[in-house]
Amino acid sequence: MRQIRKLFIAVVGVLFPAMAAAETLPVIQNVNAYESLSLNGEWNYIVDVQEEGYYDYRMKPYPWGFFRNAKPQKPEDLIEYDFDKSPTMQIPGDWNTQDERLFFYEGTVWFKRSFDWRSQETGVRSLLYFGAVNYDCRVWVNGQEAGHHIGGFTPFNFDVTEMLKEGENTVIVKVDNKRHAEDVPTQIFDWWNYGGITRDVKLVKVTPVYIEDYNVQMVSLEGRRLAFSVRLSKAEAGHTVTIDIPELKLKKAVTTDADGKVQMYAKFKPQLWSPENPKLYQVNITFDNTTTITDEIGFRTIETRDKQILLNGQTIFLKGISIHDEKANGGGRANSTEDAHQLLTWAKELGCNFVRLAHYPHNEYMVREAERMGILVWSEIPVYWTIAWKNPATFANAKQQLTDMISRDHNRANIIIWSIANETPHSAERDDFLGRLAQYARTQDSTRLISMAMEVTGASNYVNRLNDNMNKYVDVVSFNQYVGWYRDVNDAPKMTWEIPYNKPVIISEFGGGAKSGYHGAKNQRWTEEFQENLYRENIAMIDKIDGLAGTTPWILKDFRSPRRVLPGIQDFYNMKGLVSDKGTKKKAFFVLKQWYDSK
Ligand code: GCU
Repeated sequence: MRQIRKLFIAVVGVLFPAMAAAETLPVIQNVNAYESLSLNGEWNYIVDVQEEGYYDYRMKPYPWGFFRNAKPQKPEDLIEYDFDKSPTMQIPGDWNTQDERLFFYEGTVWFKRSFDWRSQETGVRSLLYFGAVNYDCRVWVNGQEAGHHIGGFTPFNFDVTEMLKEGENTVIVKVDNKRHAEDVPTQIFDWWNYGGITRDVKLVKVTPVYIEDYNVQMVSLEGRRLAFSVRLSKAEAGHTVTIDIPELKLKKAVTTDADGKVQMYAKFKPQLWSPENPKLYQVNITFDNTTTITDEIGFRTIETRDKQILLNGQTIFLKGISIHDEKANGGGRANSTEDAHQLLTWAKELGCNFVRLAHYPHNEYMVREAERMGILVWSEIPVYWTIAWKNPATFANAKQQLTDMISRDHNRANIIIWSIANETPHSAERDDFLGRLAQYARTQDSTRLISMAMEVTGASNYVNRLNDNMNKYVDVVSFNQYVGWYRDVNDAPKMTWEIPYNKPVIISEFGGGAKSGYHGAKNQRWTEEFQENLYRENIAMIDKIDGLAGTTPWILKDFRSPRRVLPGIQDFYNMKGLVSDKGTKKKAFFVLKQWYDSK
């Protein structure tokens, strides 16, 4: 019987060539500016621990998996799943905070969403866009495979035009967040592995040829020149693209070259974007006098000179804090302007002009809200701890995440630093991997600073030496240090630092844990007084470091981590926040604020 079934599978495979996945297209720039059908809302879900919905009992993918959304046609038909009778959860959203059975769950969950679709004007294309899905994601539209994506924190889209039909349509998504050594991030990381469709889903309407990417930036402070470039979805000449910045009375039309590209420059006199004056201009970009996309763009320059960071030609001290992309009050993955505003308001109350969005690209609402609030950003890809440096697939994965991070946010004036790694162990393989990644980042964006969070490897007799081969690849030398917590409690006053590089220095992490409301002696771990004292001593130590251009202490808010299991204190939370998960400020919050206010 099984042989007949296998034969049948092979025949089906041949008969249904349409099951071949659509290609993954470059991510469309500024997707929220396009007309689209939002697919956010209630989705049915099926928890599939053994991936019964995808693999047969020989662990081979089979053509009548759950993506078929099959229903019994005849009384004797055997269908052992039914999305419409399955529970629902809110998308975007992680499954861990929406179904208590899935709090710790790592594995496959299937999602189904039906929607009504009417055919569009001729030639219109439909892109199915996901803001992010953690981690390994397969997508089907009406039973046809639309595509496959890995990586939990960057957007992707598929052209599903040919898969849509008049009336009711169905999207089915298989999400698997199991961890593997060759993944990015790898198997272990100090944050909750929230699974699911964690950011917006939409069906985006575009013309047969559309503006896939554009870049609007000020190139030089002296000349105050606007640089405008466009890349179409097809290499076609003769298309007209108009850029219009009404407030600056700047309007120019240009024609695409044979590669479907445009590059132009123009003199202009914008107010400069800065934390004190986060000025954004409405920019309208019109394609072939048909589609107009609007964006909010700020203009500024960022550079380093010796050990200084200069914003708009002025030295700036980056008064920062690190943040995870997690809602307050145990709410799971953040994914709205409101979530962002809450977190960034606490950062502003701390006196911050800068945030390190750790350790992966955060949702777009966070980056744009920070831009509106005048907060500079460090954005990072999750090359975190000990990655599989020798594995070419791991490198390709990291490179793709870097590509997508830069392509989504390269028009954001507030993003000044791309970080390519965090706390990676020194080795020749690591140096080769990160060296190539840093050089590649510069080909994607030569206008921003490149960095990574290094580690202090040499410390003896209170002398801490930073010695990292990666110094030659970065513009800003950043490192994490935990004097007073993981090492040398109460020794901060004796510490000195040797950083033998003529580059600006950012302390990308320091800090210690405290349980909000737990009080006691300053040498009693986990008390607010211990954390308060640690901050006092660290700030005094750090403030003496030559070339210090900024800090992003670890961390703004207590956050979930499966590595933090101390009962009654951690309970699966990393407690190094200056604010508790419920939003209560700890004593150390005011120590840092005082320092920043003095800067
Ligand atoms: C590391 C790491 C963080 C982690 C922190 C900690 O430095 O980069 O992701 O949460 O230390 O130990 O709390």
